Amino acid sequence: MATKAAEMKAEGIDVINFSVGEPDFNTPSHIIAAGQKAMDDGFTKYTAGPGMIEFRKAICEKLKRENGITYEPADILVSNGEKQSLYNVCQALFDTGDEVVVFRPYWVSFPEFVRLADAEPVLVDTVAENNFEPDFDDLSNKITSNIKGVILNSPSNPTGGIWGEDAIVKLLRIAKENNWVVISDECYERLVYDGEFVSTEKLNRQHKIGAVVITCLSLSKTYAMTGWRIGYAAGPRDIIKAMAKIQGQATSCANSIGQKAGIEALTGDQSCVDNMKTAFRERRDFIIQLLNDLPGISCAVPGGAFYAFPDFSSYLGRLGNGNLLKDTFDISEYILGCVNVVTVPGDGFGAPGHIRFSYATSKEIIQKGIDRVRSALENIA
Ligand SMILES: Cc1ncc(COP(=O)(O)O)c(C=O)c1O
Repeated sequence: MATKAAEMKAEGIDVINFSVGEPDFNTPSHIIAAGQKAMDDGFTKYTAGPGMIEFRKAICEKLKRENGITYEPADILVSNGEKQSLYNVCQALFDTGDEVVVFRPYWVSFPEFVRLADAEPVLVDTVAENNFEPDFDDLSNKITSNIKGVILNSPSNPTGGIWGEDAIVKLLRIAKENNWVVISDECYERLVYDGEFVSTEKLNRQHKIGAVVITCLSLSKTYAMTGWRIGYAAGPRDIIKAMAKIQGQATSCANSIGQKAGIEALTGDQSCVDNMKTAFRERRDFIIQLLNDLPGISCAVPGGAFYAFPDFSSYLGRLGNGNLLKDTFDISEYILGCVNVVTVPGDGFGAPGHIRFSYATSKEIIQKGIDRVRSALENIA
């Protein structure tokens, strides 16, 4: 879809893109200035493999202040984006014959990280009506002794759903009982619109569960820094060390300029985060209303991230431009071909019937795009 959209754009076609997975804001200026200063000061060389000590200290302070979890710098690994931390942790922990629980709908990279470690993802259902929390019956039916880990992502990409504390605690207890490592992807931690975000590891400690948790975090979404490639992981030192060894051979360290900018992001003025969050909340309310007003569409209100995940299943099996719409790939393609709007089919996230709309774009574009989707839907026979 993205390639097609890029081709159409290159042809001068007015394409509206709801597939974007990053904030549309620029990186805040004080963070850019810190990156510029790092370059001017000649801070352009390798850093310590697991990350600059000053940055890891700043991360520890952030984790204590915002997430209520204490770590020492040796428990932290800074990576080229959180993606590299997630890749590292799967490489360090999993191997042939292992299985790892991944909840569906899933961010497309989770099953692939598991497969790249020669392990197999075990796809477990979630309950759409319940903020996409796990279907614990499905989970208990799928437990085997091969399972070595579980990946959770709340707030979630693609659903925007946020799990309640009870669901996280229940999963932590199951993980502890079965000796699974819990990988908690919390990259949307600061984009929570109703209520407070709670880290999985905080609950693990608070409830004295004793599960092994690796928390993976990113500066990409919180500070609009996707291109700087800075993320990190926090967890038990032996696992972090194993991850650092893999990273050391793959990329040496995360980029030095991004780490300097990262220190400023974590320790500097946080009003930029609140401002972006306010804009995202307004856009969320706006797009959810518009989507629910479309004929045959229902969309739950996502608690976080910047994705809406409406249900388009009432259009499955019908005809668009004379072609059978058998899945959401067909529906997304029909919408693109018909009204030049790019969306992401839910089938790719293991969620047939749903389509993902990113609202990391202006309200004007949201309005224009959803108006176009309406006209496309009205022509489905
Ligand atoms: C759920 C989730 N985890 C991790 C990432 C990757 O973040 P980073 O840019 O830090 O690699 C993304 C990016 O889209 C994401 O959606």
